[in-house]
Amino acid sequence: MTLPGQTSAVPAARFTWTRTRAGVPLGQLVYGRRYLARADAVPLDPFELPLSERRFETVRLGGFFGCLRDSSPDFWGRRVIERHVPAPLDELDLLLHAPDDRAGALSFGLGPEPPPPLRRFNRTVSLERIQRAADAVLAEPTSVRDDSAQSQTREFLLIGTSMGGARPKAVIEHEGALWLAKFNLPSDRWNMARVEAAMLRLARACGITTPDSQVRGVGGRDVLLVRRFDRESTSAGYRRARMLSGLTLLGADEDVTRRDRWSYLELAEVLRRLSADPSKDSEQLFRRMVFNALTSNTDDHPRNHAAIAWDETWRLSPAYDLVPQPAVSLDRRDLALTVGSLGRWANAKNLVSEAQRFLLSAERAQQLVDELETVVRRRWYPTFRAAGVTPAEAELLQGAFVYPGFRHAP
Ligand SMILES: Nc1ncnc2c1ncn2[C@@H]1O[C@H](COP(=O)(O)OP(=O)(O)OP(=O)(O)O)[C@@H](O)[C@H]1O
Ligand SMILES: [Mg+2]
Repeated sequence: MTLPGQTSAVPAARFTWTRTRAGVPLGQLVYGRRYLARADAVPLDPFELPLSERRFETVRLGGFFGCLRDSSPDFWGRRVIERHVPAPLDELDLLLHAPDDRAGALSFGLGPEPPPPLRRFNRTVSLERIQRAADAVLAEPTSVRDDSAQSQTREFLLIGTSMGGARPKAVIEHEGALWLAKFNLPSDRWNMARVEAAMLRLARACGITTPDSQVRGVGGRDVLLVRRFDRESTSAGYRRARMLSGLTLLGADEDVTRRDRWSYLELAEVLRRLSADPSKDSEQLFRRMVFNALTSNTDDHPRNHAAIAWDETWRLSPAYDLVPQPAVSLDRRDLALTVGSLGRWANAKNLVSEAQRFLLSAERAQQLVDELETVVRRRWYPTFRAAGVTPAEAELLQGAFVYPGFRHAP
C-alpha cells in the first residue's frame, strides 16, 4: 500500500490463494501486525476488508477480493501479458506480472518487500512506437505469441499496463503528470479519440467533474490523453490515491448474466455510507446517470464508475470512459445499471422516479434533467465540431443525443 502522502509502498497484508477441500478457489487475507500498528494505516477496502487482526476469507470472484480484482489487468492488459509469457497464467500470475501502473494505491510482490515504485514511464515521444506495437497485437489472433524475447520485453514495457478496460492503452508521462493514452482502433467508425474528448467537455458543461484531456496526432492517427486523477506528481515521485470500482462497491459480479446488483440506486446508497460528502457525490452520480441517458452512453457498466481516496476519506471519482452509442432503437435504450422504478430504461420519468435515493427532491431532480437535456441538445454539436469531429462523423453520431424515447411517457 502506498499510504496517503507517500510515494513508495509499505507491506500491508498477506494474500493467500488456495482451494477449499471441495476444490473451490479460496482467497485469504491478513493484515500485517506492523501495518495495523501504524497510525496512518488505511484499509484496502473499508467495507470488505476493514483494518482488523482477523483473517478475511472469500470464495466469491474466484477467491479474489474486489479490491484485488480492481488491481488486476483487464482485457487489454491481459492480452499483452498472455502474448509475452509462454505458460498458462492464473489470476495470481496476472496480478504479479502486470506493471505497477495500476489504478489505485496497491502493489504486489511474492515476499514481504514491496516492489520499488516505477520511476520510468513512457513519454509522448514514444506514442508512435506504442501505437505500432498496439496495432501489431490487435492484428493477430489472440493465441499467437511473439517468440523473439528481445522485442517482447521492449514492447511489453511500451504497452503492458494494469489499467483496466478493453481498448488498447498505455500510461504516459507528459507535462509533469501521468496520463492514460487511449488509441484509436483501425475498425472505429469515427475518430474515437476526438469523440471521447468531446464527451468529456460536454459532460463538464453538464456540471460533471471530469479529468483534463488532450488529443494528439500520432503517425496520421489520433490518440486521446486523459489525465490520471489517481496520481499526483511530487519531487519525490508519484502520490497514489486508493481506488475502488463501482463493481467492488456494489459487491457485484462482472458477468452480465448476474447483473442484479448493477444499479445507480444501490451505488448512491453505498456513496451515502462511504463518501465524505454524500449529498454532493449523490448529485454528481445523478448527473452522470442523466448524462449517460441523454448521450446513449449505454456502456456505463460498474467498472466505469469508481470512488477514490487521497487520505482516510473517500469521494466519487471524476467521470471517465464516456462514449456515445448511436443505438438503433428510437423508443427504448437501456443503460447498463438500473436507474429507476422502470429498471434500466434511459427515460426522463424513470430517471427521476427514485430521486430521494440520490438525496434529491423530486423538483430538484426534474430541474436537473431539464437542465442537462437543454445543454446536451444545444451544445453537443458545437462541442463535437470544436473537438475536431467532422460533419460526416457528427451525422453518424447524432442519433445518440436525446433519442426520442428519452421523453416518452412510460
Ligand atoms: N483519468 C483516469 N485516471 C485514473 N484512472 C482512470 C482514468 N480513466 C480511466 N481510469 C481507469 O482505467 C480503466 C480503463 O479506462 P477506460 O474505462 O477509459 O478504458 P476502456 O478500455 O475504454 O474501458 P471499457 O472496457 O470499459 O470500454 C478504468 O476502468 C479506470 O479504472
Ligand atoms: Mg472502461
